[in-house]
Amino acid sequence: MSKWKVLVTRHDTPLTGLKLLESRCDVTILSGEAPTRADLIQAIPGHDAIFLSDHSHVNAELLDVAGDKLKVVSTMSAGYEHLDVAEIKRRGIKVGHTPVVLSAAVAEVAILLLLNATRRAHEGRLLLEDGKFQPKPTTLLGNDIRGSTVGIVGLGSIGVEIVKRLISFQVERFVYTGHARKKIGDDLGAKFVTLDELLKMSDFVVVATPLTNETHGLFDDAAFDKMKKTAVFVNIGRGPVVKTDALLRALKEKKIFAAGLDVVDPEPLPKGHELFTLPNFEILPHLGSSTVKTRNDMATVAAQNIINALDGKPLVYPL
Ligand code: DGY
Repeated sequence: MSKWKVLVTRHDTPLTGLKLLESRCDVTILSGEAPTRADLIQAIPGHDAIFLSDHSHVNAELLDVAGDKLKVVSTMSAGYEHLDVAEIKRRGIKVGHTPVVLSAAVAEVAILLLLNATRRAHEGRLLLEDGKFQPKPTTLLGNDIRGSTVGIVGLGSIGVEIVKRLISFQVERFVYTGHARKKIGDDLGAKFVTLDELLKMSDFVVVATPLTNETHGLFDDAAFDKMKKTAVFVNIGRGPVVKTDALLRALKEKKIFAAGLDVVDPEPLPKGHELFTLPNFEILPHLGSSTVKTRNDMATVAAQNIINALDGKPLVYPL
């Protein structure tokens, strides 16, 4: 029997995933450091599956070129805003992603940003570099996590891991918002509130929500206006959940204390962007899931999603 044919979109895909695929399938890997859309379109016909190790868009145009043979689209990411899921499923093609296995790593980055922002790490470094640091009792005072109220926007798997980690920081109260109250929220002692309530009461606001029509642009001027002036804002979800200009105003006008972002719109934030000039702005270049183990696990799950689909079994994490 001929083997299934799988197209992988990047040469530097973790070997855990590639080896698993190669044990069952014929694997074609797009070559080059930055394969183009044209490369993808040229390569895809005749494949049974596509393994996305990047955020290539899978839409009607690509599916038309792929043809009837395509049975499964598997993205090595939790986020799936680059996929037209409705269109993929309408054509009877299975589609999977890799949530959960990255939640711990992303939660660690949320804590990193939260601590850096509230303890003014970047500002401190700038003062040192400029030779302007003066050790006074009031220099670079931050705000405690201990005794604070932490608000999580989106208590999914990542939000839960953030709460679990912050419990050891002696947070006074956890609140969260989303579609509905969740049992896991009750188990963690977190209170379900409206977004408005969360913004008003939280000392730390952490965005851990995916990008959807509902969350797009959720954090605008009005949202930042509702937050405490001492609040720290963290986003490890998706950049476009926040209107970047509104965040810039909030930080410049000291509507909030500081912000820490792993994701931003646009991404990467262009060189010379005004946000880089602000001492109360911490940023990472979307490193949430960037650990060796996490990326290996993501590749394994993405490969397993493909094998399961081709074997006619349920995907590990279907969409
Ligand atoms: C994800 O998996 O969605 C991470 O943000 C990396 O893209």
